Amino acid sequence: MPAKSTPNRAPSTAPEFRRRLLRWFRKHGRDLPWRRTRDPYAVLVSEFMLQQTQVSRVESYWPRFLARFPTVDALARARPSSVRESWEGLGYYRRAANLHKLARVVATEQAGTIPSDTAALRRLPGVGRYTAGAVASFAFERAEPAVDTNVARVLRRAFHPRARGAAGERRLWDTATRLHIRHGRSAWAFNQAIMELGALICTARIAKCGECPVRGACKTGKKGLRTED
Ligand code: ADE
Repeated sequence: MPAKSTPNRAPSTAPEFRRRLLRWFRKHGRDLPWRRTRDPYAVLVSEFMLQQTQVSRVESYWPRFLARFPTVDALARARPSSVRESWEGLGYYRRAANLHKLARVVATEQAGTIPSDTAALRRLPGVGRYTAGAVASFAFERAEPAVDTNVARVLRRAFHPRARGAAGERRLWDTATRLHIRHGRSAWAFNQAIMELGALICTARIAKCGECPVRGACKTGKKGLRTED
């Protein structure tokens, strides 16, 4: 690890970044249905759906899926064909197959209880580092980072504009960990908020820096740089 370029602490602008981000989220965050629950199964289903599908589409599929398979045990008992049918239109059916497998593992080996720690979550079918962090944080309010494409873009622009490749990704996860708020509801809100900033303001093609609440704490926004990624 390049010790000189990887300081073992949060960026100096971290407190301002966190404060402004959370204030903005309280005012502008969308009232998405999966933000109203802490049910681990419901959160897990939303995260599987959101992996490759737009929010607007998931908003209609998620409640229907949960109405048909309301618990992890109900999903575990379902026939593969009915799970697939409920996923029809969302695409990437591998996600549905993995979710079904996961439900069977949790129902048969873990008494229907979805684990709260990221290491145990990551041993479940279809759960990678991001999904494990998202479930730990969104269902159990743990202070775990969850770096998806949107969050990576925000962190790269704000703190590590030159981060690229596998080393860059490690750096972003590291910063996400150090930035994190250490307690319950705020930890939940921090991950939702940074995701929301990536979805609504710090968007892929053109960042809307003029509307950005953390511009003053952002290396890219402060300099008025235009970004290409
Ligand atoms: N994408 C992944 N998780 C999300 C969430 N909780 N809210 C909005 N978009 C998301």
